[in-house]
Amino acid sequence: MSACMNVRGKLTTICFVIVFLRCQYASGLAAHPSRGSAGEETWQSNNQRSRHRLSPSQSRIQHRESRGDGPISLHAFNRILIWAWVGVFHQGKELERVLSTEYRVTLLCFSNLPDPVWEDAMNSLYIIMPGFSAGVAPPNYILYQTEQWGHHSLNPYSATWANQRGNSTRQITLDAFQEALEVWDYSSHHLSLFAASPEFRSRPIRFRHVPFAWFPVSPPVEEKSKDIEVLHYGYMSDRRKSILEELEAKGLNVHIAGYSTWGPALSMLLRRAKIVINLHHNDAKILEMCRIMESLSYGALVISEPGAEEALQAQWTNNLIFAEGVDDLKKVIALYVQNETARVEQQTVGWEFAKSHYALEPFIQDHLL
Ligand SMILES: *[C@@H]1O[C@H](CO)[C@@H](O)[C@H](O)[C@H]1NC(C)=O
Ligand SMILES: *[C@@H]1O[C@H](CO)[C@@H](O)[C@H](O)[C@H]1NC(C)=O
Repeated sequence: MSACMNVRGKLTTICFVIVFLRCQYASGLAAHPSRGSAGEETWQSNNQRSRHRLSPSQSRIQHRESRGDGPISLHAFNRILIWAWVGVFHQGKELERVLSTEYRVTLLCFSNLPDPVWEDAMNSLYIIMPGFSAGVAPPNYILYQTEQWGHHSLNPYSATWANQRGNSTRQITLDAFQEALEVWDYSSHHLSLFAASPEFRSRPIRFRHVPFAWFPVSPPVEEKSKDIEVLHYGYMSDRRKSILEELEAKGLNVHIAGYSTWGPALSMLLRRAKIVINLHHNDAKILEMCRIMESLSYGALVISEPGAEEALQAQWTNNLIFAEGVDDLKKVIALYVQNETARVEQQTVGWEFAKSHYALEPFIQDHLL
């Protein structure tokens, strides 16, 4: 699985291997029985609407322009392809799980988008969850923005997005966003920043808040299989590196996993973790919700530096453990390493809050038909 992760971070564009994590198509309407919740009923009732299919000659423009401000009609497409970079593997997988109750969905996971070899591309909807570059953009796509504010791919004029269908001219971010059926962003704070930006505001871009989701884990994680006290995983920025070095100098033993651990290997690692430490990538201090949701879903206690987004920070104050500065981090981590009862109590609080506020269905069900 990790064969293509010899790239360091998200920087190089060497690796063009798509890993087909799951090629099996879920088979549409009757494939999965109802899971029974109230939200689920609404979700499934959309199902009754008739499907009509566009011919290949009908273009993305039609998909974009014909629906006004209304929902995207997923039934207009023969299938959905979720293209997720490895860092958001679990989020791509959850999107696949939820959508495949009604649609034919394929999840492809990649470390960098290759040029497309697509069958039936005009009749397919792509949900692209890029690390930073969308490769060659498909005809119909939802762009699910997964990067933190400040990342170069969010600079309106950065030309890291490749252009349409074999045209090697690089597209600027504004155009890549505008060409999308919708742009989803995990952060509502980002949406207010886009709305305040003259460049983004001047374009007809449809933004939508789709937070990174809590997801069910099966089989459930067992406490007795946890043998890692403190885990750190993901991209090792200079900022993170220096904090981790200081923590280790103070005698804390942190299990560190890099980007080569993702997908199923990461799932296995998360099952073993009692505590996941979340340090900010850079000084923007945007809360790393992808890691937080993933860790909570796998039943770990998350100890995090506080985030800079006030509303989000307020929402999570009692549901994660926050600590700032090396001394406090060390103290708080040591406390939860020593006191198993307190850790299990707190991790349960986080898990339940995430489950009740961050399940994916409510954020997309009214919007996709
Ligand atoms: C490639 O894209 C650019 C920018 O959209 C456009 O100006 C150019 O004509 C395109 N070239 C081809 C060969 O389609
Ligand atoms: C451990 O945590 C529990 C629950 O928060 C608390 O009641 C207990 O006093 C703590 N034990 C020690 C030794 O601090």
